[in-house]
Amino acid sequence: MALVPRKKKRKDPALSLDGDAPVGVVKFSEVGIFLVERKMGSSRRSFLTELARKKGFRVEEQMSESVTHVVSENNTGHEVLELLEKQTGICTTEFTAALVDITWFTESMGAGKPLELENRHLLQVKRAAARTNVVPIAPYACQRRTTLDNKNRLLTDALEILAENAELSANEGRYLAFTRASSVLKSLPYNVTKMDDLREVPNLGDHSRKVIKEILEDGTCSEAQNLIQSERFQTLKQFASIFGVGVKTADKWFREGLRTLDELRSSKVKLTKEQEAGLLYYEDLIKPVTKAEADLIRQIVEATVHRFLSAAVVTLTGGFRRGKEYGHDVDILITHQEEGKEEGLIFQVISSLTAQDIILYDDIIDNSYHEWKSKETEKFDHFAKCLSIFKLQKEMVNNIEPSRSCRKDSSAENEPRRSGLGSHAGTIQLITAAAAKEKNWKAVRVDLVVAPYGQYAYALLGWTGSRLFERDLRRYAKHFKHMSLNSHSLFDNKQSKFLPAATEEEIFAHLGLDYIPPQERNA
Ligand code: CTP
Ligand code: MN
Ligand code: MN
Repeated sequence: MALVPRKKKRKDPALSLDGDAPVGVVKFSEVGIFLVERKMGSSRRSFLTELARKKGFRVEEQMSESVTHVVSENNTGHEVLELLEKQTGICTTEFTAALVDITWFTESMGAGKPLELENRHLLQVKRAAARTNVVPIAPYACQRRTTLDNKNRLLTDALEILAENAELSANEGRYLAFTRASSVLKSLPYNVTKMDDLREVPNLGDHSRKVIKEILEDGTCSEAQNLIQSERFQTLKQFASIFGVGVKTADKWFREGLRTLDELRSSKVKLTKEQEAGLLYYEDLIKPVTKAEADLIRQIVEATVHRFLSAAVVTLTGGFRRGKEYGHDVDILITHQEEGKEEGLIFQVISSLTAQDIILYDDIIDNSYHEWKSKETEKFDHFAKCLSIFKLQKEMVNNIEPSRSCRKDSSAENEPRRSGLGSHAGTIQLITAAAAKEKNWKAVRVDLVVAPYGQYAYALLGWTGSRLFERDLRRYAKHFKHMSLNSHSLFDNKQSKFLPAATEEEIFAHLGLDYIPPQERNA
C-alpha cells in the first residue's frame, strides 16, 4: 500500500502547483472542503489538503457547519454518511454539505477554482423506498413553506427547549441540530403520530428522533421536563431574556452565584447602558408585543419619518411581517426611492421621537457599509439603525385595538414571553410592584433600520426572518449557487458581480428558488 501520495497522480496537471496563491490565502472562502481519510489514507489526505490550500481552497480538518463539500475516494455515499455519523456523533441528516467524489476535487484543482457540482460528482445515497403518499421534504428551510399553523406543537415545543438549552450553553452545533429538527416538523402538513411518519423527513438526528419517539410513546419528553425544572436553565433563560444580555453574560452571572433579578439588581455587577435599560423595563419587555401595538408604532414612526422625508416608505418586518400576532419586539425598515435621501435620517427621527417623549432608550448605529471590508465573516449588517425602547401610551393602543379573538399563536397576551419562570418569587414580586404603579404606558423594544433603496429588497428579505430561514437562504446561496447573500446584496462568485434586485421575488429567482411569501417563512 502506498504510504506516500500516488506518484502518477502527482504528475497530473490538475495536481500541479503552478500559479498558486501564497500559502494560507483563502481565495474561495464560500467553499469548505472536508477530505474523508477512509480508503484515501492519511498521507494522501495530507498531500491533497496542502495542495488545495496552496491553490486557495479552504480545507477543514474536522467536519463542521462550514463544510460545504465532503470529498471521498472509493467510498459509497452510504459509507461516508455512516463514517461522518460515527466521527461527529451528530446524525448526518443534520449536515447539508454535498457528498462528492474525488473527481470534483481533482477537476477543481485543475481549473484552479471550485467547480459547479454536477450529478456525476455526487455520491448516491440510497434512501428508503418512497411511499406513494409521502412527498420528500427539502433539507433547507428556504426550500420549504412553513406557516404558523404548526401541526406538531407538542414535538416542536420540546425540541425548542432542548435547542434553547444548547444555545444557553453556547453549543452552536446542538442548537442548530434541535432548531433544524423543530423547524422541519413545523413545515409538515400533517400531525406526526408514529415514527414511520418521519421516514422521508430530513434534518432529524438521532437525539431528536429519540425525543420524538419518547413523546409519541409517553406524551412527554423527560429531558425537556428536567430542563424546565432545573435552576440553571431557568436562571440562564431569565438572565438572557434581559435586553442587552447574551448567553455568555448570563452564564457568568450564574457562575458568580446570582439567581434572581432582585439579586442582580442589588449586586455590584457592572451593567452596560443597554442592560440597565433592560432591567429597568424588564417586566414590560417580557410581555409579548401585540400586532395592534406594532401597527401603532409603525404609524408613529411613519408620521415622524414623513416630517423629514414625505415620500419615505416605512415597513413592518420581522415576525409581524410573517403574520405573527405577537412578537418580542417591533422591527421597522425605512427607505426612500431617491437613494441618498435616507442618509442621516435615523438621527433626525430619533431626536424628533425623543422630543415627543417616545424614546426611553436608544442606541444609534450609523451606516458602516463603506468601511466594511470582509464580506464573508460578518454576521450583522451595516445599515444605519437604532435599537430602542419606545414608551407607548396604553390609551393610544386601546383607541385603535378592537377586541381581538386570540389566534393560534405562540403566546398569549400579558403572559411573560419566556414563560416557565413565574415560580421565581423575585419575579412575581416585581411584576406585582410594577403593576401596582399603574403607569399609563408600556415599554416596547423597537428595531429601526434604514436601507438605501438599491439594497432595500435585500434588507427586507434579511429582516423578515425567521432566523433559521435567513441562515438557510445564505447557506443555500453559498453551497448551491456559489453566491454570497446578506442583507445588503447578493454576490455571484462565479461571475464576480453583484446581482441587483428590486423585489424579494427577484432575489429568490436569482437563487433559483421558488418564491416563498413572508407568511410561509416561519421556519
Ligand atoms: N436580524 C438581523 N440583524 C440583527 C437582528 C435581527 O438581520 N442584528 C434579523 C433576523 O435575521 C431576523 C429578523 O431580523 O430574521 C427579525 O429578528 P427578531 O426581531 O430577533 O425576530 P423575529 O423573527 O421578529 O421574532 P420576534 O417576534 O421574537 O421578534
Ligand atoms: Mn422581531
Ligand atoms: Mn428585532
